[in-house]
Amino acid sequence: MTVTKAPFGTMPDGREVFEFTLENNNGMKVSVLSLGATLRCIILPDKNGNEQDILLGFDTVADYLEKSSYQGAAVGPCANRIGNGMFEIDGQTFEVIKNEADKNGNAVTCLHAGGEFSFEVWQSIITDSDSVEFFYTSPDGLNGFPGEMKVQITYKLGQNNDLHITYKAISNRKTPINLTNHAYFNLAGYANGDILSHILQLNCSQITPVDELSIPTGALMTVDGTAFDFREAKAIGKDICCDEEQLKLTGGYDHNFVIDGADGTLRKCAYAYSENSGIAMHVYTTMPGVQFYAGNFLKGEAGKAGIPMQHRSGFCLETQYYPDSPNKPTFPNCIFAAGEEFAAETVYTFETLSE
Ligand code: GLA
Repeated sequence: MTVTKAPFGTMPDGREVFEFTLENNNGMKVSVLSLGATLRCIILPDKNGNEQDILLGFDTVADYLEKSSYQGAAVGPCANRIGNGMFEIDGQTFEVIKNEADKNGNAVTCLHAGGEFSFEVWQSIITDSDSVEFFYTSPDGLNGFPGEMKVQITYKLGQNNDLHITYKAISNRKTPINLTNHAYFNLAGYANGDILSHILQLNCSQITPVDELSIPTGALMTVDGTAFDFREAKAIGKDICCDEEQLKLTGGYDHNFVIDGADGTLRKCAYAYSENSGIAMHVYTTMPGVQFYAGNFLKGEAGKAGIPMQHRSGFCLETQYYPDSPNKPTFPNCIFAAGEEFAAETVYTFETLSE
């Protein structure tokens, strides 16, 4: 196992951004930037022995700042959407940034807390031969969120091609905490077409259906008999164009799936596989939900090596509390008291199958 640190570039104000590369004895490599604690590369051999980088992303700091739709980034302090950019805690109303517009161009929803965690430079330290830790302190009131929050995210690579992301956060005021990673995977390799033929399996019997602003209605919907039924593995593209209201509202899969049996311990929520490369991924998490987003908003922006990130050329599995949880008392609670620790872990394990 090795961990190396190298300069990646500089921020517009001159601060340095570093890239850390973890490599295990099987030749699997994972690199993470101090900008946004961003997972930049996951490199594995495919079934023909060729190295594939299975993450969408960019080659420069400027691209990450200007073109990113959260590729690989840490997201917080409150990932996903908050309806009307507003919530109440103990009778006090908090208005947070509304960085997402409705179809008339009016700013209405808060998405990914305005991107605060994703576009800041984090402090970083190599803690062991297999891990790197990132630290960030979110100022009280930034983008409207109460509390100064101290956050730590650790990336650790194991010898079984297992990548562990652990999250810890503590705020000095009562506040929502929902941290995730926004990696876009293409298990065939980032340059190798769309993800519609990838096989996906989700251990999820329900989703949280949304309205036209992608805000959960508060209900839980069974996946039984719908395009959202991934309990048996099927191709992502098989039903993505079905004439179903939930798919039409979001232009393809972009929904929170309720993880069956979630109880705060690590459990398997997803499996994905590309026949083209033979690369398979298993996802485990302590969180209660996972946003399956099929890259519907990608529009051909130039990514790594200038290769366009076409519509649906990557998919995300963002482990999380359900979207708009601060406004949904029936959803698992994401409001943490002052001094109460948020702790979560998500593990991605990879294998290359020969046929
Ligand atoms: C999340 C959302 C998507 C999209 C992406 C960023 O996955 O659910 O709707 O906003 O982030 O582009």
